[in-house]
Amino acid sequence: MKTILPSRSSSLSRLNRMLAGKTFDNARFFILVDENTYNHCLPHLIARVSRLHEAEFMEVPVGEECKDIAIATQLWQTLLESNADRNTVIVNLGGGCISDLGGFVAAGYKRGIRHINIPTTLIGMADAALGGKTALNLAGSKNQIGFFHQPAIVCIDPLFLNTLPDEEMFNGVFEMLKTFMIGDRERYGQLCDMILSGTLDITADLLTACAEIKSAVVKQDPHDTGIRRILNLGHTFGHAIEAYSHHKGQSPLAHGQAVGIGLIVALYLSVRKLGLDPAILDRYRTVAAKLVTLPHYNLRDTEGLLTYMRQDKKNQGGDICCVLLQNLTAPVIDLPVPENEIRDALLKIC
Ligand code: GLY
Repeated sequence: MKTILPSRSSSLSRLNRMLAGKTFDNARFFILVDENTYNHCLPHLIARVSRLHEAEFMEVPVGEECKDIAIATQLWQTLLESNADRNTVIVNLGGGCISDLGGFVAAGYKRGIRHINIPTTLIGMADAALGGKTALNLAGSKNQIGFFHQPAIVCIDPLFLNTLPDEEMFNGVFEMLKTFMIGDRERYGQLCDMILSGTLDITADLLTACAEIKSAVVKQDPHDTGIRRILNLGHTFGHAIEAYSHHKGQSPLAHGQAVGIGLIVALYLSVRKLGLDPAILDRYRTVAAKLVTLPHYNLRDTEGLLTYMRQDKKNQGGDICCVLLQNLTAPVIDLPVPENEIRDALLKIC
């Protein structure tokens, strides 16, 4: 996998040079978009990457709705009817939903074709587009089916961030906070300071550092059997809060916002169980409150939330296993946490 990181020359121009190389001789490109990326991002891509001028397009619904086996099947049919061979490349232009779906379709088509991720959201740049996880949802549960299928290229171009609303930026900021909590104390502090002082600026340096931390973890454990789980800090609770908010007809929370709240739960438990300095929890709570409002109604239904937590892929032997922090940059994985302690944490942070 090659990652094109932000630098002085445009990432899309560097992608163009790469696609003109031998590795992509005779390749046929299909660009996967949703309505938003078709309107706001595709024109930038086509203007800068001439190799994609002849590409075909496949458009899917915006958001989690597209991560459905029926839609994946339609895409496979489109590829088959277009006589797409194994030299076909799927170019995923979008956020995490598009790269999850497009990666899944690439992994399954003719036992695996190449895909390129061009994340257009901050959460995609910071997390979802990197690392080769692909996923569809099943029976309302997130990411229950999928393959590990590494993208041939991930092209991170901050140009796309110009089109994002604040709320969408904040989703990505939470994943960046998580990554820096586990891997870069200095940049964690820098990002918190910016949020608290209202001067948030996602610089190329922050984007690059975040992508490098994630890539280094994935390189050690591409199939998520051990150390990669540190990337799931806050996610046991975040996924449950996200799924719950979608199912009960309440105002649905986006993934990043739910992870942001999940991180409060994880830090609270870290203070109780691993002796994390409570000042780290307090500061993070203040930072998180600048970006998201706590949904009190969600967290009080501890039974509803625990139902989702019991489905978490990290669980072992019937226990809910969490990633917690001993200190900044010192995560601990596979920690079984009794349900009564999780209930208590959820009620306390309300
Ligand atoms: N988003 C967590 C991972 O890629 O492992």
